[in-house]
Amino acid sequence: MGGRCLPMLKQIALMKIKLFFLFALSLAIWAGCQTGPSRELPPEEREQYLRKGQDITKDVAVIMSTALTKSLNDGGVGRAAQYCSFMAIPLIDTLAVRSGVSIRRTSTKLRNAKNDTPTERELAVLNQYAQQKAAGQELQPIAELIDPQTVAYYQPILVQPLCLNCHGIPGETLTDADYDVIKYLYPQDEAIGYNLDDLRGIWSMTMPRKQIQ
Ligand code: HEC
Repeated sequence: MGGRCLPMLKQIALMKIKLFFLFALSLAIWAGCQTGPSRELPPEEREQYLRKGQDITKDVAVIMSTALTKSLNDGGVGRAAQYCSFMAIPLIDTLAVRSGVSIRRTSTKLRNAKNDTPTERELAVLNQYAQQKAAGQELQPIAELIDPQTVAYYQPILVQPLCLNCHGIPGETLTDADYDVIKYLYPQDEAIGYNLDDLRGIWSMTMPRKQIQ
């Protein structure tokens, strides 16, 4: 009797070990699926990229506002419109190339659907900012990983008085004559109807990660 029982006990013990490994393996797979690839940057690095992103958008915003204001004064919306297409401003191109950064703007309501359509992640960020704004929260810039070598930076763009000239409410803050010019240039335009301090869109940048490390 004892002679037949021993191999069976061994087999049971072996099965237990196999089952344990199977369980551990599925637990590891489950945990892996739960976390996914993390977008989070280490806090210190995150601070650095937030600062860098803010420095760049500050420079770009000053350059753009200056160019827009000047040409609005010189020749009205017709002449100034091209200056909101900010890649038309050579200074910004130079600034981006110098810092190894790619920079663009996007929005849920587009004037130029050809260049500015949001990616899936940009759309998620736009929706998050819109919800936070609706809840009366302060909107904060975001720095996160796209992959281990690339950082994404997002920052909300809020409507200032200057912007209403071309993105305001037709017949009110945006004159009918100016709106005609815009519709002529951008027949698919959706980027109107904004009030002061509305969320107009986001700055979206990618930065090489190694540069700062
Ligand atoms: C003189 C008219 C004019 C003024 C003033 C103006 N914009 Fe624009 N805006 C445009 C035009 C035209 C485009 C499309 C540019 C292009 O072809 O890329 C545009 C595009 C944009 C876009 C890119 C997304 C999209 O809809 O295609 C954002 C964001 C934007 N404007 C924000 C602003 C903000 C913020 C201000 C105020 C600081 C402002 N604009 C002032 C005319 C203007």
